[in-house]
Amino acid sequence: MEKRKTHAQGPTFSRVIAGAWRWQNVSSETVERLTQVSLEQGITSFDHADIYGDHSNEERFGQLLAKNSSLRNKIELITKCGIKFPSTKRPASRIQHYDTSKEHIIWSAENSLKMLHTDRIDLLLIHRPDPLLNPHEVAEAFGQLRQQGKVLHFGVSNFTPSQFTMLQKHLSFPLVTNQIEISLSRIDPFFNGDLDLMLELGVSPMAWSPLAGGKLMAGEREVFSVATKYDASYSQLALAWLLKHPSNIFPIVGTTKPERIIEAAKSVNVNLDRQDWFEMLKWVRGKDVD
Ligand SMILES: NC(=O)c1ccc[n+]([C@@H]2O[C@H](COP(=O)([O-])OP(=O)(O)OC[C@H]3O[C@@H](n4cnc5c(N)ncnc54)[C@H](OP(=O)(O)O)[C@@H]3O)[C@@H](O)[C@H]2O)c1
Repeated sequence: MEKRKTHAQGPTFSRVIAGAWRWQNVSSETVERLTQVSLEQGITSFDHADIYGDHSNEERFGQLLAKNSSLRNKIELITKCGIKFPSTKRPASRIQHYDTSKEHIIWSAENSLKMLHTDRIDLLLIHRPDPLLNPHEVAEAFGQLRQQGKVLHFGVSNFTPSQFTMLQKHLSFPLVTNQIEISLSRIDPFFNGDLDLMLELGVSPMAWSPLAGGKLMAGEREVFSVATKYDASYSQLALAWLLKHPSNIFPIVGTTKPERIIEAAKSVNVNLDRQDWFEMLKWVRGKDVD
């Protein structure tokens, strides 16, 4: 599978990324198998967050890295910080809230390093825009982690264009992605300025829930009527539809089934014709473009 940079000065990731959010629902053996199959398919980039699996998914993935010393250099690790919620693992959190203080970002990144059994995180994201976000503090936290070599690149998730631009203005290095929800079920980013900003800045977005959490695949759908023409499955078409966009979208697939990793990887070979792309857009919008 092709690899691409998310920004001229950013990290290089596999075009399709494996998301570990739902991996809490499967055994450690399956996590190992999903990782192995991903690598066989050229999917070398893995998307985590401190909170996934009630703060346990990073640790389980880290056990793989601990027992296989050559694995770390074959993969790229993305993780996130900033969301806190009540959990026996985090008794200090009374309610769901965000924390993008310098202290928490540094603590969280260092904890992720420990959980993942690694000395570096390729990309750290602020998980959600925090209404109390102080860009000076974020810049200090990012600067320190970067200078120490603990985190190589930084980005954000679920930020609006103005939130992205505001934070970028306080940093001396580029934010290298905005990880947002984009799919045939969530087409707003194509029209609301999210992807325009990415194109303007030369930053590649990442698409979470690119199959709308599996909802897109439920039942017969006219949106996939071009499937036979491409000899592609519905999920491959849904991913190819995102891959076609010039902003260089990196879809993050969330499956817990090894065979679906193989299926998703093949989406990079589906080169959708422009009119078929608009045909799929038409089905989800319910009308042609004007
Ligand atoms: N930054 C954020 O705020 C944020 C939010 C949500 C997610 N994420 C990231 O994005 C990743 C992907 O999110 P997601 O899991 O919602 O993505 P998704 O790929 O849209 O959905 C995966 C779900 O769809 C199901 N599915 C049903 N049919 C499928 C098919 N034919 N092919 C593949 N999957 C099918 C999967 O079930 P099976 O397991 O049975 O295949 C799984 O439950 C997460 O792992 C996480 O890393 C980030």
